[in-house]
Amino acid sequence: MSQIRILKQSLFVIFLLVMASACTYDFVEMPEPDPIDPTDTISFQSAVAPIFSDGNKCTACHSTGETAPDLTPDRAYNALVPAYVNLQDPEASAIYWFTHPQSETHSWKKYSLSEANIILGWIQQGAQNN
Ligand code: HEC
Repeated sequence: MSQIRILKQSLFVIFLLVMASACTYDFVEMPEPDPIDPTDTISFQSAVAPIFSDGNKCTACHSTGETAPDLTPDRAYNALVPAYVNLQDPEASAIYWFTHPQSETHSWKKYSLSEANIILGWIQQGAQNN
């Protein structure tokens, strides 16, 4: 009788071990974004605006007369500065964080990590109209 109990108990322990080992998680490494060279000036017109307009990525919805902010190349700067940038705390800028790949806001469309990095770098450099 007690041998059966021991057998049952050890089967149960084996079962638990199998279950526990089945529950391993595969952690997906987030690729580290390339650090932005602080001596490399990020141009709004040639580096930032195309993120919004290339392939109509953002301008499909954010264009003149559509959902604010207007991100068409000739209007994006005035739509974004100062309303969507925070020069004191660049990472809190709406135009950076709202569509960041790791944010939970704006399910419509996200930046890639490297695009988000360009936006952040541009804000850190003073969000200039350059
Ligand atoms: C499919 C349509 C669509 C696309 C594409 C899109 N958006 Fe949006 N976006 C919206 C809508 C609708 C809202 C307003 C509702 C909301 O807050 O989600 C919005 C809101 C926003 C806001 C907040 C506006 C505010 O005043 O608070 C920002 C910033 C923004 N979008 C940036 C972007 C950027 C940057 C891109 C491109 C990477 C983009 N959006 C692409 C539809 C879109």
